[in-house]
Order: sequence, then C-alpha cells, then structure tokens
Amino acid sequence: MASPLAPPERVWWKPAGLLEKTWVRIAFVWCLFLTAMMPIWFLMGKQNVPGESYRIDPPAFRERVMAFVEQYRVGEEQGIPVVEPPPGSDVYLFGRMFQWYPIVKLKVGETYRLHVSSLDVQHGFSLQPLNINLQILPGYVHVITVTPTRAGEYSLVCNEYCGLGHHIMVSKLIVTE
Ligand code: CUA
Repeated sequence: MASPLAPPERVWWKPAGLLEKTWVRIAFVWCLFLTAMMPIWFLMGKQNVPGESYRIDPPAFRERVMAFVEQYRVGEEQGIPVVEPPPGSDVYLFGRMFQWYPIVKLKVGETYRLHVSSLDVQHGFSLQPLNINLQILPGYVHVITVTPTRAGEYSLVCNEYCGLGHHIMVSKLIVTE
C-alpha cells in the first residue's frame, strides 16, 4: 500500500493537452486585448475628466477660496456660503474635515474652471449622479473644466474615508437656467 505521505505522481514533463493549450491561448489573447484597451479607452472613452493640476500650499489655497467667496457670495445654507460666480469664471472650492466649502451656483450652458483641493487630508470629490470622481489631496489643485447641460441640484459627497465625520461630508452644486 502506498504511504499517504507519498507525493502524487508528477506530470509536468508530459506535453500539455489540447484543451490546456487552447485555454492558454485564449487567456493570452484576452490579456493583449485588455492591455490594448487601456490606452484605447483613455483616448476614445468619454469618461475622462480633463486632467489639469498644479501645486499650492493649503493655507494659500484657503486664502484664494476665501477671497473668491467674499467676492461672489449671494447667500448662506447651514452656515456654508452660497456663491454665484459670473459665467466663464474660475471657481474655487475646498474640502476639509468634514465639509465642502463653499456651495457653488452655476448657469446652464456656461463654462467654468473648477479649482478643487483639500486643506487637510485626502478626500474624495464625488459629484452625483454625474459620477465625476476625483481624489482630492492637500497641496494639489485639480482644475475641472465644466459646462453644465442641465439645471438642478447635484450632490457632492466625499467618497474617501477621511475620519470620524466622513459620512457627514456632503454638499451640493446648484445649476440654474
Ligand atoms: Cu472627506 Cu471623507
């Protein structure tokens, strides 16, 4: 009787069967296809947020946002200023534990440059239901060029865990006719 500890019969030196070879070929072609799709989808897909960014010190960015709020403030909601910048302008917005600041009001059909950054830790900028998602890091500013096509209130939520108040880090973006 063979010992239960004896290794099973080795077969690695036998030629691979037709079925195995076929699956290896299918897997190889699939790898090539997926690899090719990365650059192709980057160029052809319409889901890419225009990538433009620059570096800045968080305190300097805070000053920039405060000056922007001061200039175009039109109201306030739950302690957060509502700002309505003129069409075509640069818009400044920061995330910090645990709020987005300020609430921005934009107009349909006008193009804006949205500068977004963080003052403290990493946050996730997630605009819903458009599903625009960006990682927001202190020291780096993302510039998103947007032209709203539909009026309404869009939810802005933080989708990167940033601390105990992460779940209350919600705001909105208002688009009017
Ligand atoms: Cu900010 Cu989670």
